[in-house]
Amino acid sequence: MPSKTGRIAKMTAQEIRQAYLNFFKDRGHSIIPRALLVPEGDPSTLFTGSGMQPLLPYLLGQDHPEGKRIVDSQTCLRAQDIEEVGDNRHTTFFEMLGNWSLGDYFKQEQLAWVWEFLTQTVGLDKNRIFVSCYSGNQKLGIPKDEESADIWAGIFSKSGLSAKRVDIGSQENGYRLGEQGGRIFFYEDKNWWSRAGSPKDMPVGEPGGPDSELFYLYPQVKHDPKYGRLCHINCDCGRYIELGNCVFMEYLKSKDGFIKLPKRNVDYGGGLERIAAAAIDDPDVYEISLMRPIISTLERLSGRTYDSNHTAMRVITDHLRAATFLGIDGVVPSNKEQGYVMRRLIRRAVRFAFDLGIEQNFIEEVTNAVADLYAPDFTEVSDRRHQVIATLTKEEKVFRQTLRKGIRKLDQLSIQGRLSGDDIFVLYDTFGFPAELSVEEAFKRDLAVESDWRKTFAKRMEEQRARSHTAAKGAFKGGLGGHSVIHRKYHTATHLLYKALREQLGDQVIQHGSNITEERLRFDFSYPSKLTPEQIKGLEDSVNAQIKRDLVVSWAEYPTDYALKELGALGAFGDRYGDKVKVYAMTPKDSDKPYSLEVCGGPHVEHTGELAEGGKKFKIIKEESSSAGIRRIKAVLV
Ligand code: ALA
Repeated sequence: MPSKTGRIAKMTAQEIRQAYLNFFKDRGHSIIPRALLVPEGDPSTLFTGSGMQPLLPYLLGQDHPEGKRIVDSQTCLRAQDIEEVGDNRHTTFFEMLGNWSLGDYFKQEQLAWVWEFLTQTVGLDKNRIFVSCYSGNQKLGIPKDEESADIWAGIFSKSGLSAKRVDIGSQENGYRLGEQGGRIFFYEDKNWWSRAGSPKDMPVGEPGGPDSELFYLYPQVKHDPKYGRLCHINCDCGRYIELGNCVFMEYLKSKDGFIKLPKRNVDYGGGLERIAAAAIDDPDVYEISLMRPIISTLERLSGRTYDSNHTAMRVITDHLRAATFLGIDGVVPSNKEQGYVMRRLIRRAVRFAFDLGIEQNFIEEVTNAVADLYAPDFTEVSDRRHQVIATLTKEEKVFRQTLRKGIRKLDQLSIQGRLSGDDIFVLYDTFGFPAELSVEEAFKRDLAVESDWRKTFAKRMEEQRARSHTAAKGAFKGGLGGHSVIHRKYHTATHLLYKALREQLGDQVIQHGSNITEERLRFDFSYPSKLTPEQIKGLEDSVNAQIKRDLVVSWAEYPTDYALKELGALGAFGDRYGDKVKVYAMTPKDSDKPYSLEVCGGPHVEHTGELAEGGKKFKIIKEESSSAGIRRIKAVLV
């Protein structure tokens, strides 16, 4: 956007996103919507971590319905970077601007276009852009990418820039060799891209190829020798920031080495947030238009400044952006897979808010700030924001209670000067304080942490599991006589029956007793009248259907109030619970939403499908009155 003075005005992140899509649309690309953060039909990875992931079948040769030229902005989540968040450039959640040639244009067009977009459309300073190319690998028979280097040399010379080439090789070499006044640098594995990383790490069937990356120099940042003696474009000190990566995806790993893919592809990925930061000439990505309003919300809520609270405000901003989009894409906090990462993000955000002195509930306001920034460009954000806010605030409330108690306990433990695996387990077991948080807290307080804490922690967890199984025997009303396999099966069947009763007869059904022997289960519940044969058949069919669905059985501990009131876990009439209860969930494999949630000591089978072993079916053999208003069912697996 040239202004009257002929200078380029600074674009916002939102404008850059739109300009990018338009730029490539003008060059024959179809704009496609982002894919969900949770990959569909790809169990190999928890999250969409790059723009190419949802396009994999097309990169392997299948025709894309939108044609050979595609452009999008893909929301990505890299949960593995969670610990790095806090500096001025790492985030778990980001948008990757992507353009693809599926067997169409190649290096010449790609490099020229990305240069034009960054220097002319966005208006970055061309003097500060540096590039890398693949140095080749003789053993693999893949040549040095002189072709890309030549194209770059042409582009630089047209812009009046020197284009000295420097061979670096590995990242370590970079710290020894330094910049040497170069503009085009050759690296080996650093300039190879595949989902699995370097060529030797790729499994058979994985596509990949040499790439050419673009870096932006921030001369205002001083090299930090703690990363290595000399700075180079792939140095991690933050003086150079990678803006984008042009992958020339033309190879496939086969069992006999690398072969060519049926078509040559381009997979370009550019970090929207980083490009937007370069556009305002600020190495801090949290200053861009998609982040700063969230930081400002935190400044207002805490009464503190960003400048004096970088780490906490960055962590909260990043984590709640990520958690908001996870919620938008249908994830809910839980103890497994995507739900676990979401829970961890929210809990870390709450934890860091404590550091800012924000002790009141704050997630609603911050999530609103996030949603305001994205709603104009993503309809799903405006559609689902209220639901997402409800999900996030619920998690916040529960965790806040947990935290208060845990932090007090940690303060007490601090007196001893070190934290052992046993302490970490006690914090977890008694206060629900996540192990990773204990370790983080210990570092903050300069407490030494037992080096083998993970081992001790795992051992204590194992012992605890065994203990709770044994305790469940005596504790359960009606007495679970033991935990032989058949007991476990009947126990699991009891949960399925309880759920079926509630579904078919309504919420008036409350468990009044349960008893299991090797031969049968017995279940007493409130209901005013005798069940009809149709109702009995309905119950059997429902239980058998859930057995067939092979629900995954898992458990977690929660504060009692939360489990019963917020989660809606079923309990038994007259049972009294302590502060915390164990909740068993039976969940379909392809879902995060449990079919059944019940307060229970266990033990259970691991999958409901086990109940059908040997071709067995669930059958009700008796339905009778037990006392006034209470019915009794006896059932078997035969
Ligand atoms: N797929 C490439 C990356 O993620 C563009 O860096």
